[in-house]
Amino acid sequence: MKILVVGSGGREHALAWKLRQSIGVNRIFCAPGNAGTEQVGENVAIKATDIAALLAFAKQNRIGLTVIGPDDPLAAGVVDLFEAEGMPVFGPCKSAARLESSKIFAKEMMRRCHIPTALASSFERSSEALKFCQRLQFPLVIKADGLALGKGVVIAETSEQATAAIRSMMDEGKFGEAGRRIVVEEFLPGSECSLHALVSGGAFRMLATARDHKRANDGDTGPNTGGMGATSPADNWSDALQRDFDDTVMGPLLCGLSRAGITFRGLLFPGLMLTTDGNRVLEFNCRFGDPETQAILPRLRSDLLELLFATLEGRLDMIPIEWDRRPAVTVVMTSAGYPGTYERGKIITGLDACASLLDVQVFHAGTKRENGGVVTAGGRVLAITALGETVAQAREGAYEVVSRIHFEGCHYRRDIALAAVRVNVAVQ
Ligand code: AMP
Ligand code: GLY
Repeated sequence: MKILVVGSGGREHALAWKLRQSIGVNRIFCAPGNAGTEQVGENVAIKATDIAALLAFAKQNRIGLTVIGPDDPLAAGVVDLFEAEGMPVFGPCKSAARLESSKIFAKEMMRRCHIPTALASSFERSSEALKFCQRLQFPLVIKADGLALGKGVVIAETSEQATAAIRSMMDEGKFGEAGRRIVVEEFLPGSECSLHALVSGGAFRMLATARDHKRANDGDTGPNTGGMGATSPADNWSDALQRDFDDTVMGPLLCGLSRAGITFRGLLFPGLMLTTDGNRVLEFNCRFGDPETQAILPRLRSDLLELLFATLEGRLDMIPIEWDRRPAVTVVMTSAGYPGTYERGKIITGLDACASLLDVQVFHAGTKRENGGVVTAGGRVLAITALGETVAQAREGAYEVVSRIHFEGCHYRRDIALAAVRVNVAVQ
């Protein structure tokens, strides 16, 4: 079978790498892909958002399954388009993907289903949002309604910061249409956890848990990024929390979607904040996380393609999902300046020496092949994952590989999964 993976990040390299191991897969295409996906398959020069061209390619090449990586093609209706033409595709349809593409819709769904989340109000006029903020305690959180490349959430510590965020989103069009409407919500202190569930209408199966590291610098300082590293499993999760999550989030959400006539078929990734008052859903993502996927998939023993088809065909309850019990740690290497402006085209060295190390994967994100070598081509450049007997060993493995790879201006956090090591040590 031929597979098309849509996207060009570390997540897509991890998906393509894992799908390449599936029984019956003989060719993998990635659109548009990166220098890493080229090692497991063939890159196709089609943008992830050009959904008409993706469909034409899939039909022409008789693709057996198209797997959508990023959020924007889902929001644009790529799944509806493929399904209308009878082409197999993994991901939720446009109406289900609104859980991610409209924070107002997600909030409204959570309110209707009594799903625990931050208290929030939504606004269409900046004057009303500004007035509302004056009555609240800081910090508070301002969120663009629509997709904003992971940059649409501002944690405002002061009234001035809130005013600036609201004005830039609503009046100055910083995120275009995506920021014309906003959500203002209470700030929740706590620790975050990323949950991944394969969802097929009313049924779901959880994948392994993970934790992201959102801030750019050590000690959770600096600006929010798409994710600077991950660890799986999450060290702040437990069976009791899972039962609570099933009962208070997954069950009510899937009922609510069904009542609204929406069928979710794909990967649902709720981001949670674990607070002293209980768990709260921060957001719903309708796709695999990045970099969570790079930490989760190397632990998956089962055939990913089987799982994706079981989701599409409503057979989730019948399928075993097996995991490597060893933890994984993923360290993201970025270009200097990310998530702000950064330079591209820096030569990356050391990749070949790391290509065949045991229990290590070098996933590419913003990379491309140039003059026979590999150069940087994005903010997040590489994601290095290592498995280890303990979190400490997995960390050591990942950082050892990071130390062998070089490019000008390379930045990475040195404390990925450090908190999880401490928890592990405390438990022993
Ligand atoms: P979101 O895209 O909604 O997940 O927000 C991105 C990041 O902003 C989250 O992963 C959190 O780190 C942070 N965040 C979002 N909402 C809140 C909140 N209500 N309280 C505290 N932090 C938040
Ligand atoms: N790592 C967070 C996300 O993929 O949205």
